[in-house]
Amino acid sequence: MAPSAETSFAAHAATQFSSYERDRQKTSTETLYATSNGVPMPHPYETQRVGENGPLLLQDFHLIDLLSHFDRERIPERVVHAKGSGAHGFFECTEAIPDLTLADIFGEKGKKCPITVRFSTVGGESGSHDCARDPRGFSVKFRTDDGNWDVVANNTPVFFLRDPAKFPHFIHTQKRDPSTHLTHADDSTMFWDYLSQNPESIHQVMILMGDRGIPDGYRFMHGYLGHTVKFVNANGDWKYVQIHFKSMQGTKFITQEASAEYSPDYSQKDLYEAIDRGEFPKWTVEIQVMSAQEAEKLWEEQHINVFDLTHVWPQSQFPRRKIGEFTLNENAVNYFAEVEQVAFNPAHMPPGIEPSADPVLQSRLFSYPDTHRHRIGVNYQQLPVNAPRTTYKFGNFQRDGSMAFFNQGARPNYLSSIDPVQFRARTVNLDKTHSHFTGEAITFLSEIRAEDFIAPRKLWQDVFDDGARERFIKNVSGKMELCKNEEILKRQIAIFREVDPEIAQRLEKATGIKGYEGIANMRFNGTHNGFSKDPKVRYANGMDVSSGKSVTSNNGAPSAGTHKSCTGVTNGANGSNATNGHIAVQ
Ligand code: HEM
Repeated sequence: MAPSAETSFAAHAATQFSSYERDRQKTSTETLYATSNGVPMPHPYETQRVGENGPLLLQDFHLIDLLSHFDRERIPERVVHAKGSGAHGFFECTEAIPDLTLADIFGEKGKKCPITVRFSTVGGESGSHDCARDPRGFSVKFRTDDGNWDVVANNTPVFFLRDPAKFPHFIHTQKRDPSTHLTHADDSTMFWDYLSQNPESIHQVMILMGDRGIPDGYRFMHGYLGHTVKFVNANGDWKYVQIHFKSMQGTKFITQEASAEYSPDYSQKDLYEAIDRGEFPKWTVEIQVMSAQEAEKLWEEQHINVFDLTHVWPQSQFPRRKIGEFTLNENAVNYFAEVEQVAFNPAHMPPGIEPSADPVLQSRLFSYPDTHRHRIGVNYQQLPVNAPRTTYKFGNFQRDGSMAFFNQGARPNYLSSIDPVQFRARTVNLDKTHSHFTGEAITFLSEIRAEDFIAPRKLWQDVFDDGARERFIKNVSGKMELCKNEEILKRQIAIFREVDPEIAQRLEKATGIKGYEGIANMRFNGTHNGFSKDPKVRYANGMDVSSGKSVTSNNGAPSAGTHKSCTGVTNGANGSNATNGHIAVQ
């Protein structure tokens, strides 16, 4: 007998699971108290026991159900950026740029899409203070018609490193000491040890120790992807792009002294309450654009490397261009479901946006979905806050795993010829965007060079005013007071001297420690030293580079000739469109 309309599983699924939103908005008055399997219970505090004062009964499923779920309430917090706040809103394109990208959200002026944003501090745990001196994370999930685009950015245009294998080391030094369990708020030895051995961090250190180190909540700060990405148009022509989010509220900061007066959840409170009051924060989306040839020229003539996350693109040469705005106008109804479980991934890029060869970006493309599978579970993309919202119904051959919910029904779990899935023709010619990366495999570690100090020097000399310089010296020397090792500080002062001798002199006065004269004679355990000719000093940590390359003359930059164009040969497989990019090479 066929299942009836009332008793079929199909009917059950249709009524019970048709709307996530129904559950999200349900009020307590519409809700009957029941165990997890739906059996009503007269009161949540009752237990079953033997007699009036005897032990409890194992058969008391209500109590066991309650306790065992409670025991499993926590998921691992993010390994970095654990403390954060989020909200929902929408993006609107203000200038179409089909000349630059075929990404649908930039295809038409006025085009909108829903977004979810999460802001965060970096080093602290999930309960840590919102007003820590720390970069701020700024992640945006754009739910485009062509799948999700996640921009996982910070409030600073640069980062502490450009060699990705350093990231876990660097982060460990921002976390708790393995033995004392103290953070750098009490003992800054690890903090300065890392920075004094990895001088390419200096640009970010200057920003961190300056006024931007403690923004006044999340509404009053800008966001920067920092990494170079590629925008690809319908012809397959591409340009390098930097993405900026500019706060339309302006920027504000909190001083080190004042930060002690603020609530630990200040930024959460500020964001939530502003949205609740109807004061919706907004940011513009702006881009800088550069051709491949300009990127080569920028390296050859100015030694600015677009694949180097510690370098910035000069805005006088590559002006910002506004292409959109986004607004946050909805608070999360449930923080855990909509903010804690949101999962951003720099590899989530719709057609028209591609990664560059920046090695830190390349590593991040792997790291985020890997950690999401650990932190949330293999089916994390099925959660409503993470699920894409596409104009087409999509499917694939990913099946099962923990908590499979949308498990793709009865559709074949392999590439079936009997019941075939549909394909859309390729819209991006990857062969064309892949540039010209040919050469032997090499080992690589970057080296510190004179050009790495140009932008930090400009920051000190041209951007900071007298008050900002004074606060900077106070912030750095205050942090140095918490360092137990003088040798580390002598090295760090030498690095500051390369930025500007005035910084070193003022720090020497404030700390009473005489730093080294400069970095030419210093060996670093984290980087090769391009200031030195002596191999014992030049190569990181006394490395023997007689075999293997490790250090290169272009420091990983796109030097002249990198972007030679390549042409493809086409030979498509069943149902695929190979006119745009080649499938087989003859
Ligand atoms: C090799 C370098 C890096 C690695 C391996 C790395 C890894 C990670 C990991 C594992 C997480 C936790 C993600 C989660 O649990 O959902 C995370 C979070 C985050 N990272 Fe990175 N990261 C790197 C560099 C960067 C850089 C350069 C930026 C900014 C330009 C950045 C911005 C963020 C942000 C904003 C978050 C928080 C995302 C959220 O709000 O959920 N990270 N990173």
